[in-house]
Amino acid sequence: MDIVYRLRFLSRTLLLLASAVPFLSAQTIHLSIDSSKAGATIDRNIFGQFAENLGHGLYEGIWVGPDSSIPNTRGIRKDVVAALRELHVPNVRWPGGCFADQYHWRKGIGPRDKRPATVNSAWGDVIDTNAFGTDEFMDFIQQIGSTPYVSVNVGSGTPQEAAEWLEYMTAAAPTTLAKERAANGHPEPYKIGMLGIGNESWDCGGAMTPDYYVSQMKVYSRFVLNMNPAQRGKDQMLKIAVGPGTPDTEWTEAVMKAWNKHSWAWNINGLSLHWYTVPNGFPPSTKSENFSLDDYVKSLKSTLFMEDFLRKQEEVMDRYDPDKKVTLSVDEWGAWYAPLSGSNPAFLVQQNSIRDAILASLNLNIFARHAGRVRMANIAQMINVLQAMILTDKEKLVLTPTYYTFKMYVPFQDATFVPVSFDAGNYTHGGVSLPRVDAMAAKTQDGKLLLEMTNLDAEKPVNIDADLAGMQARSATGETLTGTAVDSINTFDAPNRVTPKPIVVRVEGGKLSVTLEPRSVTVISIEQ
Ligand code: AHR
Repeated sequence: MDIVYRLRFLSRTLLLLASAVPFLSAQTIHLSIDSSKAGATIDRNIFGQFAENLGHGLYEGIWVGPDSSIPNTRGIRKDVVAALRELHVPNVRWPGGCFADQYHWRKGIGPRDKRPATVNSAWGDVIDTNAFGTDEFMDFIQQIGSTPYVSVNVGSGTPQEAAEWLEYMTAAAPTTLAKERAANGHPEPYKIGMLGIGNESWDCGGAMTPDYYVSQMKVYSRFVLNMNPAQRGKDQMLKIAVGPGTPDTEWTEAVMKAWNKHSWAWNINGLSLHWYTVPNGFPPSTKSENFSLDDYVKSLKSTLFMEDFLRKQEEVMDRYDPDKKVTLSVDEWGAWYAPLSGSNPAFLVQQNSIRDAILASLNLNIFARHAGRVRMANIAQMINVLQAMILTDKEKLVLTPTYYTFKMYVPFQDATFVPVSFDAGNYTHGGVSLPRVDAMAAKTQDGKLLLEMTNLDAEKPVNIDADLAGMQARSATGETLTGTAVDSINTFDAPNRVTPKPIVVRVEGGKLSVTLEPRSVTVISIEQ
């Protein structure tokens, strides 16, 4: 070998080694999982969604009308329905949000050409044709195979208006309202899974004090009744009271104190909680596309606050309700960034990147760890608004990275939580320190162990070694979701940049090993 050849050989070898270094130098994190130590059920309803009459969430996102050239079933987009069916969406909260406390349901029933045009003063003062009303929402719910979570108007409505809405939706007996529903094409009563008694009543829902709200809540709970005979007993409608939106506990105290003394005449089954990830606080200023690594770490740091928030509210709830009868329903959560440039700021349009897929997994894992109390949650929002699953533009549709996180988590619905012990390590950037990994496990009814692992590190992979006790692990398969950069997104022109890919997992002698790519969400299913 001449000297020139030797030098070339050496430099090529060094180059090869250098490219392997990130993987060789990857930190190893040990997980211990004992699947015989199962905990609470991860209620499928924590994977719920929120579809408010806001911007293009309903109109264009779901509803295009039966005469549209966009393929639809009775006015509802077929492509959106097909995509959502894949997520097994357990419940959808509608019609708001702030919009709920301005909504008068009678304006949205009957022949569409006779419905009044109103102003959506909650969101941009745009004209609302009321074309997407109760029966269209129920049709959508039935098409995607979900359950309705209906929020009634406490702020500008009356108990009578809400009670009549429930009668319209649920009466089986031939009352005048049930006959009106039948005349509108729906003789069978609808099943309503959950009823929200107002929304953010401390703010857009009427700026009420906790005590004033509590007295309203009792009246609505007493008189807004589900009349569907099929919902007596086990399948009963759950009544969800307004809960806190700030980390103090005054509101939770007031509602839970009242609940603790409730009589036969009224009851609630859940307390709602709203908490958004707004990295620099309101008004939202963080960009949702072309953002920096600083923004990435700040966003994840900010989202992890959910854990403390839940714990604080749970302490109060546990005092008044040690048996955990009242659910903590996180019925608005997700990332809230600056509006996309060129969009109507009142429409809350933002992009969705791998950062959001990770942010979603971190929150879902927190909910699962609190599964004993947190039995419902609704990401805000479903389509075209905030941290959406789907973005549409006329006939075009794109599935977001958050959509894929939800898809990968489908097997966790109603699985049994299994604790994972680990030292998460640290990932620090720009003075912000994050856990390097997060992990969550659950057992399915057919005996599989599911393991979710999130690598928060934007640059480095992580090796995982997991001890699997309580089962004879034989094989494992899994998928991972990542992007080439922290701000990787799917677009109408490049819809598959951030999509799940199969991952190589080794299982041997009761141990599992896998390498997680930087900024990734991974779900593995382990069979015995
Ligand atoms: O999701 C957008 C808005 O955020 C909701 O309408 C309101 O409840 C919350 O403040």
